[in-house]
Order: sequence, then structure tokens, then C-alpha cells
Amino acid sequence: LFTRLAAARVGNWLLSARGDELARMESSRNRLDPYPHYARLRSQGGLYRSSIGIWVATSYQHCHDVLRDRRFGVQAAAGPTPRAFERFMRERETGDVPSFLELDPPEHTRLRKLARPAFGPAKIKGYRALVEKATMDLLDRAQAKGRFDLISDFAGPLPIRVISDLLGIPDANTTRFLHIGQIVGQSLDGVRSVRQFHALRAAETELDQMFRKLVEHKRIEPGDDVITHLTHACDNGEMTIEELLATCGLLLIAGFETTVNLIGNGTLALLDNPAQWAALKENPDLAVGAAEETLRYDPPVQATVRVAHQDLDFAGKPVGRNEPVLVVLGSAGRDPQAFDNPDVFDITRIHERDHLAFSGGIHFCLGAPLARLEGEVALRALAERLPHLASAAPPERRASGIRGLTRFPVTTGRK
Ligand code: HEM
Repeated sequence: LFTRLAAARVGNWLLSARGDELARMESSRNRLDPYPHYARLRSQGGLYRSSIGIWVATSYQHCHDVLRDRRFGVQAAAGPTPRAFERFMRERETGDVPSFLELDPPEHTRLRKLARPAFGPAKIKGYRALVEKATMDLLDRAQAKGRFDLISDFAGPLPIRVISDLLGIPDANTTRFLHIGQIVGQSLDGVRSVRQFHALRAAETELDQMFRKLVEHKRIEPGDDVITHLTHACDNGEMTIEELLATCGLLLIAGFETTVNLIGNGTLALLDNPAQWAALKENPDLAVGAAEETLRYDPPVQATVRVAHQDLDFAGKPVGRNEPVLVVLGSAGRDPQAFDNPDVFDITRIHERDHLAFSGGIHFCLGAPLARLEGEVALRALAERLPHLASAAPPERRASGIRGLTRFPVTTGRK
């Protein structure tokens, strides 16, 4: 389960496209700043077929339309698979049960519906106090240190605490859960050694056992958490235990590996744009806009994939059945046809239209309200509590896949 999640659609497609122009997205220069490369790709018309047969959507309109077009799905349709798609298919033949992120209706609809109550408006409102408390605790410690790592001391632990609480992981298990989650999360950047592969396998097994034990525990001592609710669904025959594990795994990855980068990328953009940082300090209510603008300007998930379920004419192009389309969400946010001055980071920007950082259509990010809440609370707290925050050393970027930082040394500056 987790190996496939780790090799998730986004990173995997970029990694598998060696020798192709997509590989250029992975080159170190483009990894540091992929946006000029996206602009060049957009100038080729917004949708083109790469030399290895993967379609690439880079304009806002094409990305938006692919995500909402029900002629595309995330699973291959029956029938022959073009070569460009083969590697992806092999990833799927491991016998693991996929999470609903990787499923088409009707399974996707059924499983997403079971997880949805955890992200309803009343629930999200209820999480605010928890997010604020976790934020304050972490910043207390960071402030005491004076110099700290924005990622490992703040942006990383915050979403992990929230997702642990949401899932209903008991405090006694959180250290282990954190350790396992980190091993799984790191593999999103690619599994680069046999040792890492074995560590990942061991982590998957342990996590699997941990979730199974938790299900047993929640049957005896139910709580108001996701694992308890999914255990009920399991006992009512609405989902299998394997589907429950896959759902928990999906939420774990989402909780560990995305929001950290919203907070990290947002802080970096603010410190790189002193006028914006000053505006946020002046008016911390702009934190909502700062989180939103970060998602447009430098989104953690840069791309996703869809596959045509039939031979079709899409935007005048003949897309064959089972041909994949790489949807470059990060490029959509910088499309001048959709956003004025798209390369300018402006937290007061009133978005003319929704950015695509949370994707679109039926797979629109289920955790978006939670991610927005965490981003807003974190950026607001930094502006209010650490007004002299400054970069202490150049940040280090993640290797690939997810866009974000591994290290970002900062100082709290003058008291
Ligand atoms: C799906 C982005 C935070 C749970 C997605 C997708 C994207 C995304 C792009 C859809 C991929 C596709 O269409 O193929 C993000 C970003 C986040 C974030 C940028 C933070 C800034 C979260 C959080 C959770 C979450 C905190 C939950 C704890 C999910 C789930 C799905 C999903 C369950 C699958 C939805 C489906 O397939 O129906 N996310 N996400 N996400 N996300 Fe998030």
C-alpha cells in the first residue's frame, strides 16, 4: 500500500519520464525554480504530447478541464495499455488495495463518502482550537531556542499532531507513528537505496499492524475520531478492513507531507517578499490570503495524472484510450491567461478564479479545509509572534515529487 502511495501518481510520473522533456522538470535547475520551464511549456499551446506519449496539460484551462472531464479517470480502462502507461500499471500490480485517490467511481464515491464526515464544516471549526494550541506550543519552543529549523521544528510537527488527533492515534503511539510516517514520507522523493527500500517495507508492515491494533482498540473504546468511524463502517459491511487501512494510509501521507510544504513555501515566499511580510504583520487577518496565495504561487503538489477512458477529442487533440495526461497544477497557477501578474506573490490578491492546488472535479482534495485552516493559523502566528523572523541560512529543497523544503534554518531575530 505505502510503497505505491510513496511512488504516488505525481512523483512517479515525473520520475518515470527519464529521457523525455519531462525529465527536464526534474533537472536541478528546474527543481529549484520550475516556473520558467512551465512558461516555456505553456507557450507550446497548453496541451502537448511528449516524445514518450504522455500528454502534458500546462495551461490553467486545459488543467481545469481535464480534471473535470468524466471521460478521464485515474485507473486504466480495460483493453491494451500504451507503452507510456506500462510502468504505471506495473506499480499497480502489487496486489495492494488502492486508496480512493487511486480509484474511479463507483468505489471512489463509496469510500470518499465514508471519510468525508471527518472534514465537514463543523468538524473543521472544532479543529481550530487544536491547531492553535499545537501552533503555540511549537512556537514557544522555537522562540526559546532563538534559532530553529522552520520545517523540522514547526511546519512538519504541526500537521502531524493534527492528523494524529484526527485519526485517533493514542499519545503513547505518536512517537512511533511519527517515525514511521517520516520514513514513508521521505520515500515520496524516490527510493534510492536497498536499505531505504527495506526500511520502507518494515515501516509499512509496522504501520499496517498499528492500524489493525487500533481498529481492535476502537471497537472496545470508541472515540470521536476517523479510525472509530471507519471501524463502524467496516463492521456495518460498508468497507473492508483493507479499504480502511488504505484510507488511513492516504490520510497519513496527506497529513504528513502536504501541509508542511504549504507552511514552508508560504514562509519562504513571505520572507523573500519583505513588503508582503510587512503587510501580514500589519494585518494578520491577511493570513487567509497568504495561505491561498501560496497555494497558487508555489503549490506543494505540482502535478497529477489522469488517463483517457476512451478515444476522445480533447481541446482539438486526439487523445487515445488509456493515454495518460500529466496535469501540471503548478503551471496552471502561473498562467497569465488566468491570473494577472502571475509571477508576483501578492497576499492581497483577490483570486479571479480558484487555483488548482487542491486539484478539481471528483478528486478535489478532501482535506482542503483542514489544510487551509492550518496554513492560516501557522502564518498568522508567525507574523504575530515572531515579527523579526529571518532566514539564517539558505533553505534546502526536497529532491523531487512534492515541492517543498527539507531544511529552512531561521532565527527569531531581535526580541
Ligand atoms: C487529494 C493537495 C492537504 C486529504 C488531493 C489532491 C491534491 C491534494 C492535489 C488530488 C490529486 C488528484 O486529483 O489526483 C493537497 C495539498 C494539501 C493537502 C496541496 C496541503 C496544502 C490534505 C490534508 C488531508 C488531505 C491535510 C487530510 C488530512 C486528501 C484526500 C485526497 C486528497 C483524502 C483524495 C481525494 C479523492 O481522491 O477523492 N490533495 N492536499 N489533503 N487529499 Fe489533499
